[in-house]
Amino acid sequence: MAKNILLTGGTGFIGKNLTDLLIENGFSVSVFTRSPKENTSAIQYYKWDPDHNYIDEQAVLKADYIIHLSGEGIVEKRWTKKRKEAILESRIKPIDLIFSVLEKNNKPLDAFVSASAVGIYGAFTTHKICIENMPPANDFLGQTCQEWEKAVDKINTLGIRTVKVRTGIVLGRDEGFLKKIVPSFKSGFGAILGTGKQYVPWIHISDLCNIYLKAIVNSEMHGPYNACITDNTTNASLSKTLANIFGYTIWLPKAPKFILKIVLGEMSVAVLEGQRVSSEKMQKTGFEFQFTDLERTLVSCLK
Ligand SMILES: NC(=O)c1ccc[n+]([C@@H]2O[C@H](COP(=O)([O-])OP(=O)(O)OC[C@H]3O[C@@H](n4cnc5c(N)ncnc54)[C@H](OP(=O)(O)O)[C@@H]3O)[C@@H](O)[C@H]2O)c1
Repeated sequence: MAKNILLTGGTGFIGKNLTDLLIENGFSVSVFTRSPKENTSAIQYYKWDPDHNYIDEQAVLKADYIIHLSGEGIVEKRWTKKRKEAILESRIKPIDLIFSVLEKNNKPLDAFVSASAVGIYGAFTTHKICIENMPPANDFLGQTCQEWEKAVDKINTLGIRTVKVRTGIVLGRDEGFLKKIVPSFKSGFGAILGTGKQYVPWIHISDLCNIYLKAIVNSEMHGPYNACITDNTTNASLSKTLANIFGYTIWLPKAPKFILKIVLGEMSVAVLEGQRVSSEKMQKTGFEFQFTDLERTLVSCLK
């Protein structure tokens, strides 16, 4: 019988792409969602509502693996106190709910794999290359990722292998980061943000899904792995490359830092700062990134 993988947040950008890959690779897929759809021959949807502590235990009890992707969008709305709580709680509460079902039923799992983010290293711009054993930063994203990963470690105390995929900015067609910025570039208004020197640690959606698949099938993998290309892409190089693809050259003006700070508030750090991140640990598992050239990757996402 096909092994079953339960995805939380399986209706989102990464979840939908990953579901297709898992099915292609012979897994059966269950999805936890707050708004279940009709089941298909390959996907079963289960209702949950972590905000109200509701979970359909059957989904957990039949799973061989769980991949945790659910969470409120990090850059969807201004970071008010309430929004920050929602960002954190929507990542941690689901893990706590799953933990209680696993513990109560003494339910084994082959692995629990969770999204995390390179934001754990902090929102700052430096040439230093971030690796997995660096301590979490003291800012909002750093502390959020730390709490998120601590919740995953709790699952590990049940004797379950856990993997944390510290994800960079995911590039894919019509979704995520590109969905937000492409319209302005397409209409000729693309701009470099702030100094443009901030690094953009990116990864193509198909490479990211393959990292999740590898984390499932390779029982040697455990702990955190950075999931992004190790290179020198900065906001300026990304913006210039995108503009070139749409047939124009960016000169000036840049979108000034102070304006972005007024418009976005504290959340502006997510676009004005960015770290260089190493994927060496992931590559040491034998993983080979298929998308390593920025321009080719952007073209493939935009066609
Ligand atoms: N995309 C990126 O560039 C990127 C980069 C770094 C890290 N990540 C992380 O990877 C994970 C998946 O990202 P994604 O881009 O696929 O996100 P997404 O498209 O926004 O999907 C997230 C899913 O989470 C569920 N969700 C949202 N709010 C929730 C809440 N309050 N309670 C329970 N479920 C909730 C939603 O499912 P339902 O509405 O069906 O319940 C949604 O489909 C996230 O944790 C994200 O932070 C993403």
